Amino acid sequence: MKKSYDLVIIGAGPGGYVAAIRAAQLGMDIALIDKNRNPGGTCLNIGCIPSKALLESSELYYTAKHSAREHGVVLHDIKLDLKKMLERKQTVVKQLVGGVEILLKERGIDVHQGHGRIVGHDTDAGHRVQITDGTGKKTMLNTKHVIIATGSIPVELPFLPFDFKTIVSSTEALSFKQVPQKLVVIGAGAIGLEMGSVWNRLGAEVTVIELLPQIIPGWDLQISRRLAQVLKKRGMRFILNTKVEGFEKKGNTLHLKAAQGDEGKSVVFEANKVLIAVGRKPFHEGVGIEENGIEWDRTSGFIKVDQYFQTNVRGVFAIGDVIPGPMLAHKATEEGVACVERIAGIPAEVNYSTIPNIIYTSPEVASVGKTEEQLKETGSEYNKGLFNYRANGRALALGETEGFAKILADRKTDDIIGVHIIGSRASDLISEAVGIMEFGGSSEDIARMVHAHPTLPEVMKEAALAVHKRAIHSL
Ligand code: FAD
Ligand code: NAI
Repeated sequence: MKKSYDLVIIGAGPGGYVAAIRAAQLGMDIALIDKNRNPGGTCLNIGCIPSKALLESSELYYTAKHSAREHGVVLHDIKLDLKKMLERKQTVVKQLVGGVEILLKERGIDVHQGHGRIVGHDTDAGHRVQITDGTGKKTMLNTKHVIIATGSIPVELPFLPFDFKTIVSSTEALSFKQVPQKLVVIGAGAIGLEMGSVWNRLGAEVTVIELLPQIIPGWDLQISRRLAQVLKKRGMRFILNTKVEGFEKKGNTLHLKAAQGDEGKSVVFEANKVLIAVGRKPFHEGVGIEENGIEWDRTSGFIKVDQYFQTNVRGVFAIGDVIPGPMLAHKATEEGVACVERIAGIPAEVNYSTIPNIIYTSPEVASVGKTEEQLKETGSEYNKGLFNYRANGRALALGETEGFAKILADRKTDDIIGVHIIGSRASDLISEAVGIMEFGGSSEDIARMVHAHPTLPEVMKEAALAVHKRAIHSL
């Protein structure tokens, strides 16, 4: 392998590996380093993909047990083969990771397994990056540019440290060998609700403890409240406004001690497994940040970058979860593409105001732009159109009548400023909103577009019509 490159990327997650592919398309010589043998980072290996595989399988099990009957499909003796379900999840991961490996190879990208560390730089010769492999062998690479794409790791609660068996992160919760009898999830965010849903559907008694007074804080309140209602109906228990402060182990059970409400009432929760899902933090340990004087925020941990993803050290860039912004795979990917295009002199940028956010519960929730609460806070004037899934023909045919789409449009210009959906395939419906917003479109644009019938996206059309009080299928 070569020792001299145009670009060395540390971290092969959706930020790093996509940046490598785009840079190869632009004719750069690239080395991509990851300490993990498989490319794909958190997202492909222990995040987005395995969690979605389990969400799909567990929903199928739940449907077979609870709602297939409504379609006249009567199933008897439904059994869970958890081993098989976990194997399928790994097969999905393996297939995707294998595909990425082929893409990297075919693009002529040198992939190195090992720990990457920036060990020096000067403006003429560029930068030096050292790779230490599993055996301790060191290789030195010279490069004009470096991208740090080292991602994030779970936040640990000091009074409830991970033991990776009983007190776990999402990584272990993706592979429980048995359905836990009592699962307590700390944190009602994306991981808490997705992984909590998986185990709830498979039969666990799931209690979600949240510090704040609502689940998925920061989301549009109407969406958050509806999601809580629906998940409660499915048997998930939410304990809000509650702070876990410690635990005691009694045999195989953990007794979590918590303070509830403003008065801090003492409460105890029993658990066989505890999933800590209170957020993730940027990870750049051992990457050579300190030694090279690369600036980072000591409170949040994020590496500081300018609008072109460059750190204060010329030629060193950072993208993805390790820099500020939502910790989402598609955000990391878009930053990776824009970063290498900027290096190549193409004036690319990421539009942060149209990054969609989705939680793959049942029903799904999806959002882009401002929430009603944000608009009220800034005194912005807006019109609102809301349409319920239950009045959509396809939703009825699917038996997926829960939910609504809400479109918020500027009162003067009619520009769409926020879209919030709860309902089946909200993850797919949100793309239309992103597209329209990206082109500075209005609710009138969605209202006038021909939507195929019968489809769930007609919910979007009707919500857009409702902005000006002319929805057809509601009063
Ligand atoms: P990462 O994917 O974290 O990749 C960083 C890589 O850097 C890792 O492979 C690591 O091994 C490597 N690395 C770190 N330090 C070094 C070093 N010094 N040398 C060499 N290699 C190093 N996002 C979504 O958009 N949709 C989802 O559905 C979704 N689901 C998720 C589910 C779970 C359970 C979790 C945990 C996360 C989920 N996310 C989801 C978030 C998503 O995974 C991250 O936002 C995304 O992976 C960030 O990409 P990244 O490239 O910045 O970093
Ligand atoms: P999160 O930030 O989504 O949610 C954390 C939750 O924990 C918040 O509701 C917060 O108020 C609560 N919390 C914090 N401290 C607490 C405490 N001490 N006690 C009780 N509750 C507490 O973080 P999460 O779920 O860990 O996910 C991490 C990241 O991964 C997120 O940024 C998310 O974007 C990403 N992710 C994305 C997914 C998706 O796009 N579908 C799926 C899973 C993860």
